[in-house]
Amino acid sequence: MAAPILALRGVNKSFGPIDVLHDITLEVKAGEVLCLLGDNGAGKSTLIKIMSGVHQPSSGVIEMDGAVVTLPTPRAASDKGIATVHQFGGTFPLMSIGRSFFVGVEPTKGFGPFKVYDRKRANEIAVKAVQDFGITRIDDGDRLVGGLSGGERQSLAIARAVHFGARVLILDEPTAALGVKQATHVLRIVNEAKRRGLAVVFITHQVMHAMAVGDHFAVLIRGAVAADFKKGDKTREEITDLMAGGASMANLEAEIEGYMSSHGGHPPPPAE
Ligand SMILES: Nc1ncnc2c1ncn2[C@@H]1O[C@H](COP(=O)(O)OP(=O)(O)OP(=O)(O)O)[C@@H](O)[C@H]1O
Ligand SMILES: [Mg+2]
Repeated sequence: MAAPILALRGVNKSFGPIDVLHDITLEVKAGEVLCLLGDNGAGKSTLIKIMSGVHQPSSGVIEMDGAVVTLPTPRAASDKGIATVHQFGGTFPLMSIGRSFFVGVEPTKGFGPFKVYDRKRANEIAVKAVQDFGITRIDDGDRLVGGLSGGERQSLAIARAVHFGARVLILDEPTAALGVKQATHVLRIVNEAKRRGLAVVFITHQVMHAMAVGDHFAVLIRGAVAADFKKGDKTREEITDLMAGGASMANLEAEIEGYMSSHGGHPPPPAE
């Protein structure tokens, strides 16, 4: 069997006296989505910062294709094909779609279309890459990124990462601020990235979003992997409970629903 594209083995991370991650072992394979779940402060962002070269592990190793690697900088991670899309898609609101697509992609030779920025060509390439992901509403590379919806911006960032050869796509809560329709759109694109053979690490608080794309799930609680399981191994209720650290969210949901049905559909007032 092929080695996972990216793996962490026994990774610990502390900031001074504060232990944030404990003995994390996780892997993600080509064509697989690993969902990282966990409550606020569980360590999810810290973990992906280790995967993307922002932080260094205090101990433990990172492997790519079965070999130990170091990721001393975000640039080193990106050179190895690890692309991280942050919550707002690394946006440049006043930049055109074509321009933002090529930001930071310096020409490696002394010639080629981007030695001098070729607006027409950049727009063509960017629009094609985005449309290939099924986002057909974006058809003008001169449009400003700031005019796109949150879901379209996320989609643009993902299409860009794939276009420039990412093998690992890390998404930190890409659907957090989105409405249902836009979130569905981003989830479809995550599935498309997976179909193209990328390894995807997907962070979310929303169990339904995780279940829509995940092949493999890891729940972080206070910096440790509390559960690590495959699609179909656990129900939505079990996952929700795990994320809440065992407190039964399902019971809470049932209570709220009960309250609403006897109070004309009104939710209960907030607790004092
Ligand atoms: N640079 C740092 N120095 C000290 N503590 C840090 C640092 N970065 C993160 N932490 C701590 O590590 C813990 C985990 O933070 P992290 O941001 O990884 O959580 P998270 O799971 O991403 O949470 P959220 O769901 O709210 O985004 C928190 O208690 C946080 O205060
Ligand atoms: Mg976070």
